[in-house]
Amino acid sequence: MSQHLHYDVLVIGSGAAGLSLALNLPAHLSIAVLSKGELSNGSTYWAQGGVAAVLDDADTVDSHVRDTLDAGGGLCQEDAVRFTVEHSREAIEWLIDQGVPFTRDEAASVEDGHFEFHLTREGGHSQRRIIHAADATGAAIFNTLLAQARLRPNIELLQQRVAVDLITEAKLGREGNRCLGAYVLDRKTGEVDTFAARFTVLATGGAAKVYLYTSNPDGACGDGIAMAWRAGCRVANLEFNQFHPTCLYHPQAKSFLVTEALRGEGAVLKLPDGERFMSRFDPREELAPRDIVARAIDHEMKRLGADCVYLDISHKPADFIRAHFPTVYERCLAFGIDITRQAIPVVPAAHYTCGGVMVDSEGRTDVPGLYAIGETTFTGLHGANRMASNSLLECFVYGRSAAEHIQAQLPAVTPPAALPTWDASQVTDSDEDVVIAHNWDELRRFMWDYVGIVRTTKRLTRAQHRVQLLLAEIDEFYSNYKVSRDLIELRNLAQVADLMIRCALLRKESRGLHYTLDYPGLLDEARDTVLEPACP
Ligand code: FUM
Repeated sequence: MSQHLHYDVLVIGSGAAGLSLALNLPAHLSIAVLSKGELSNGSTYWAQGGVAAVLDDADTVDSHVRDTLDAGGGLCQEDAVRFTVEHSREAIEWLIDQGVPFTRDEAASVEDGHFEFHLTREGGHSQRRIIHAADATGAAIFNTLLAQARLRPNIELLQQRVAVDLITEAKLGREGNRCLGAYVLDRKTGEVDTFAARFTVLATGGAAKVYLYTSNPDGACGDGIAMAWRAGCRVANLEFNQFHPTCLYHPQAKSFLVTEALRGEGAVLKLPDGERFMSRFDPREELAPRDIVARAIDHEMKRLGADCVYLDISHKPADFIRAHFPTVYERCLAFGIDITRQAIPVVPAAHYTCGGVMVDSEGRTDVPGLYAIGETTFTGLHGANRMASNSLLECFVYGRSAAEHIQAQLPAVTPPAALPTWDASQVTDSDEDVVIAHNWDELRRFMWDYVGIVRTTKRLTRAQHRVQLLLAEIDEFYSNYKVSRDLIELRNLAQVADLMIRCALLRKESRGLHYTLDYPGLLDEARDTVLEPACP
């Protein structure tokens, strides 16, 4: 039997964005936080680098804003950047208050104006401003916030719950288009439950799983973007898919990122013959923004027919390497690579979705009652290329502002009137799951081949044609068979792939992360690519 559940706030996603929002809401509200698998399965847990913030007296808000605008290729919205950066110190203080064990700077003297925590550097940042917990910052933040959430009886943490779709007034044929909650598959019972909520928040992360090679965990399927789009929200700038320049290249090393902080601490990129090459692409060399470094590596690999390039930090003292990068050290060692003595074979892989659901500074989408935060969103912060470690910051700043806005709206919003049960009367068990598996593989491969680091109109059109065929097939499957996690994710991923390709085809220039051989130049005017849903 499916269940009907009622909450004040339904949060879909249990990473940095979802947990920080839940923890910033008042303790008298009933809150459900959903996770598709285990609570730790999202991207937050795997973040290595850290959180960018203005913390040291030598740094300024203007400098952080300038670096972000510069990395963003002329497309950041300065008010969103300033809003985020101005709240960065407060966000970090909140995390420290929650108990996040950031790495301390043994040499720091607070009296002479230096921050007591160690700050590292990453690409595009002109200052040391990345606060971190060695090279496992995401895990440290996630574990701390989760422990705090577990202390709050008003927060229910529900695992193995996959949101199928949002429930809106328009979808129910009612007047208006307020979001009233979501239909959610309980993977343990196989039933689709009805979650009614006064406010619904999408904190589902990005969509890098749309590519064959990605640094992201399996759940990064663009669920929030697809659900918001189907509910009537605008999306923007989905052509800007960030490829992380350095993921470990090893047949058994699925999805392992080698943090940019290595380059921040002096690691250099080399060709297979040992030659350094970044100076040929940018005067900032290894510390150029990610789009430039990833494209340089892609170019050199294609030029030489090489399988990978190499990242070398072995000139640094072994103790320093082991202390600052214990995760990377251990993981590489498990594959027989001692990074204190050897260079690391690396390749670029899909890492971050810069565009997403359009929201304002309070995380409000176009649909009343529906908020979105984190990688799911387009806030205007990242422009055409996200600067490293600005994304976790965005989660905390918008997590708080959205929570404050929800709190202010509460008195005016009553719980939704009775919602219909999910109708499963017309569907049967699938006898052809091979179709789902095949479509997953096909989608991710053609996105990698045709919508990757270097694009052409012809490749994009090819991809568009294929994604339309897949969407029709998936729709038919969705109408006839019971939903499963794989089917829900595939449906969302194909939807987001279509939106990415549409955005990419609309951009007739090369800017930031979108590079096309047909339009290699930059247009005079920088414009966002905004897609409007046809309905409701
Ligand atoms: O390289 C890294 O540690 C990744 C940081 C980021 O994507 O912000």
